[in-house]
Amino acid sequence: MIRKAVLPVAGLGTRMLPATKAIPKEMLCLINKPVVQYIVEEAVAAGIRDIIFVVSRGKESLLDHFDLDPELEAELEAKGKEDLLAEVRRTSTLVENLSAVRQKKPLGLGHAILMAAPLVGNEPFGVLLGDDVVDGEEPALGQLIRVAEELRASVIAVERMPREEIHRYGVISGAEVREGLYRIEEVVEKPRPEEAPSDLAILGRYVFFPEIFAYLEKTPPGAGGEIQLTDAVSAMVRDGHPVYALEIKGTRYDTGNPEGFIKATLALALKDPQLGPKVRQFLRAWL
Ligand code: G1P
Repeated sequence: MIRKAVLPVAGLGTRMLPATKAIPKEMLCLINKPVVQYIVEEAVAAGIRDIIFVVSRGKESLLDHFDLDPELEAELEAKGKEDLLAEVRRTSTLVENLSAVRQKKPLGLGHAILMAAPLVGNEPFGVLLGDDVVDGEEPALGQLIRVAEELRASVIAVERMPREEIHRYGVISGAEVREGLYRIEEVVEKPRPEEAPSDLAILGRYVFFPEIFAYLEKTPPGAGGEIQLTDAVSAMVRDGHPVYALEIKGTRYDTGNPEGFIKATLALALKDPQLGPKVRQFLRAWL
């Protein structure tokens, strides 16, 4: 059973400045919930009970968001605001076990995950990256967990990307073992379009078995002087460990940049039973 998930949320959010000057990018609001809540809800829906945030300075509000707020609850109760009270309580009880570890220096995604090793211990775990919101019927992490439990191996989420966008992602290649599932043969971080081994780009969901930590420990700084998760996975694959890539069913939005953020906002608003018709009408008037 996979019960723990690591959420690396130490990044600066430079692509969203100045919005992210004084608030964490993960706390930016999509409709009426911060981005991080969508990600935590996905993890919980996939059976995760322990959330481990890898934070940096100034990210305390992320923890507060999922913690109890007795004063606010008492006030909402006294005012008879039952709906809001229920929503606030749901948020603060969503995560059974909440913990955080500090990444003191921005040394990369691989380094961030390594910081969580003592809290993860010797068991498989999920990783969810804070920019990627995935909208779909089955939680993206849940899709990975099913395959990881079946194959007893690490599994990484991928999606097909147009060539001109591939340079922004980790890219895998491998043999298709069944529809949409590949045994990874090669993985490269942010390749030039002509060097990309395929059009299968990594999206921010992973399930790892604990051997990843040994590889992260010996991974030297790579692209941008950072310890890259992709390099550790690549070394694991070279040593013959089976690592799989699964094409995820669902739509992924990169909320870490304005364009992706707007797309996510619009898509979620259009799907919302209350907001949908009004937003659609508003947009029609503009188009
Ligand atoms: C990270 C990973 C990359 C992956 C991407 C998904 O990159 O290093 O392999 O494709 O997340 O969002 P970042 O977006 O942090 O540069």
